[in-house]
Parts: sequence; C-alpha cells; structure tokens
Amino acid sequence: MEIVLSGIRPTGNLHLGNYFGAIQNFNKMQYENKCFFFIADYHSLTTHPTPDDLHKNVKHVLVEYLASGLDPEIATIYIQSDLPETAELYLLLNMNAYLGELERVTSFKEKIRKQPDNINAGLLTYPTLMAADIIIHKASKVPVGKDQEQHLEMTRTFAKRFNRLYKVDYFPEPEAYNFGENLIKIPGLDGSGKMGKSEGEANAIFLVDEPAIIRKKIMRAVTDSGPTEMNQQKPVAIENLFTIMKAVSSPDTVSYFNELYNTCNIRYGDMKKQLAEDIITFTSPLREKILELSADNDYLKKVVKLGKEKAHESASKTIKEVREIIGFRPF
Ligand code: TYM
Repeated sequence: MEIVLSGIRPTGNLHLGNYFGAIQNFNKMQYENKCFFFIADYHSLTTHPTPDDLHKNVKHVLVEYLASGLDPEIATIYIQSDLPETAELYLLLNMNAYLGELERVTSFKEKIRKQPDNINAGLLTYPTLMAADIIIHKASKVPVGKDQEQHLEMTRTFAKRFNRLYKVDYFPEPEAYNFGENLIKIPGLDGSGKMGKSEGEANAIFLVDEPAIIRKKIMRAVTDSGPTEMNQQKPVAIENLFTIMKAVSSPDTVSYFNELYNTCNIRYGDMKKQLAEDIITFTSPLREKILELSADNDYLKKVVKLGKEKAHESASKTIKEVREIIGFRPF
C-alpha cells in the first residue's frame, strides 16, 4: 500500500492529456493505495484568474475527477486552499530552496517567455509549492504526465535536503506513478506540442466536448499529403494522431491504420473518422456524468467537506512533526 498523490490546476475543463497523464485507472489506483487527489487552486493564482473564473474552474476539476471514477469515500479529494498546512510547509521549504535551481526549471523559463509582464514569485517557487503538496502527505507515488517530470525531481531534491539538514529520515523521495512503461505525453491537434489548454481550444479535446465538436476538431487536426515510400518514418503531426489513437482505440484499430500507412494506402479522412468515433465512445459516459454531477451542488458540498477533513488529518500530523524536527518547540 503506497501513498499516492495527484493534483490538477483549475484552469478550465479537463482534456484527454490530463486524463491519461494523471487520472486514468482511478478505479484500480484508489483501491490498491491510499490516494489523495487535490485541486491546485493556489497554483492557479500565478496567472491571476478572476474570483468567478477561479471558483468555476475549481468546480470543473472537482466534477471531472468524480466523473472519472474517483470515489470520495475511498480516496481523499480536496481543494488545496482548504489545507493551509500546505502553505506552511511551502514557506518552510522555501527557506531551503535556492534561486539558481529555481531559475533553471524549464517550466519557469517557459513562463518567462509566455508571460513576460507577470513573472511573479509564485511562478519561481512553483516547484516548492508542488513539493509541499506531495510531501505534506508523505506520498511516495505521483501520477503525472511527462511534463511534470522535472518538478518531481525537484520534490526529491527538497525532501532529501530537508532530511540531510535535520539529520532525519523523515520525508520519502517520491517517484512518478507510471501507468505504463513511460510517462505519458498526449500531443495536441496542431501538429506540434502537447495537448493543453493554453495552446488554444482547438488543440485539445475536452472530456466534456460534445460529439459534433470532437468530430470537427479531429477532422481539422494537422496532417500532411500522405506517405510516398513504404515504411517511411512518420512526421510529428501524423505520429501524434497515432499516439492519441493508441490511447483511445483498440490495438487492432491502431495496427490496421499503421499497416495502411506503411503500405502508402492510408486515407487520413478515414483514420480521423475512426479516431473521432473512438474518442466519442470513450468520453460520452464521462460527459454524461459530468453534466449530472455539475447540477448536484449538495453532493459536491459534501465531497469537499469530507475531503477537507481527511486531508487535514493527514497534513496536520506532518506539520506537527516537521515543526518539532525544525526546532519550533513549546515553552
Ligand atoms: P496541470 O494542471 O498542468 O496538469 C494536470 C496533470 O495532467 C497532466 N497533463 C498531461 N499529461 C499527458 N499529456 C498531456 N498533454 C498533459 N497535459 C497535462 C500533467 O502532467 C499533470 O499530471 N503542477 C501540476 C499541478 C500540481 C501537482 C502537484 C501535480 C500541483 N501540485 C502535486 C502532482 C502533484 C500542473 O500544473 O498540472
């Protein structure tokens, strides 16, 4: 039995990347481990959302976690800002995090590029807050997509450093919870990077998207004019479509289109039609549950209250012990 923790920033609806990176297999994971799933609303403040947007997006993640099969009675599902112990541990870890290492984090460098007018301290210390999220429950496994690998590495650094500084063996060094052999990266539909909200609405398929929208987005996904040589290497945009297909379609379907590609007989229109239908089959039950749960505020309120209590029980124990280790002693 391991302690597993996963988080998602509330910036909108969840897309297939979030699903396959962080939450697939909930059912198995939550019964075999002690699981914590939280909504990283402190983290989302780095981009200054309006209060209404923030609240709406927290609800999206909560509802979509539940629709994906997370059972609040079994696992602990909570909102980060309901757990101020996280903020305290973040402060303590920051005393022991160095400017140079924080400045070198890839996601920070990317943010500098993307939002040069808003390079705040929250962005710089994003990895210490994420480390606090994880080690406040002494989690050892973290389900994440490939893009979070470096943040996890930083978490290990901070945990190790704390143990060394205070000569204790207190925090575990958490690792990624792998769903397969490698960490997952679901590509976007524009032929280049990963699927993500900030890359534009059309680049991502959201769990809540209507079938007509899914068909439209997939039909518009970037392709090329087709292979000209047998068994030629696939360009990135085509490889991306195959990667998405591998996530949602049967292995037979993937090999069928792979074979057509390798023999230069592929028609991207046919492949896209199949892909869209397989995504719809996959997301439809989720979409139904999302719509149902969104209307049930009483239930959501209960879930949040229960999660807050369970998370607090675990976090307050850690904070008490950490305070003792550091030397905050009673008189
Ligand atoms: P966020 O909100 O950007 O993404 C949430 C989760 O979804 C995964 N993900 C993807 N996986 C595969 N392919 C994609 N295209 C894709 N896009 C997103 C992410 O890897 C992530 O697992 N820093 C985190 C939130 C966080 C957190 C934590 C996660 C805060 N504290 C502690 C784990 C543990 C983030 O911004 O994720």
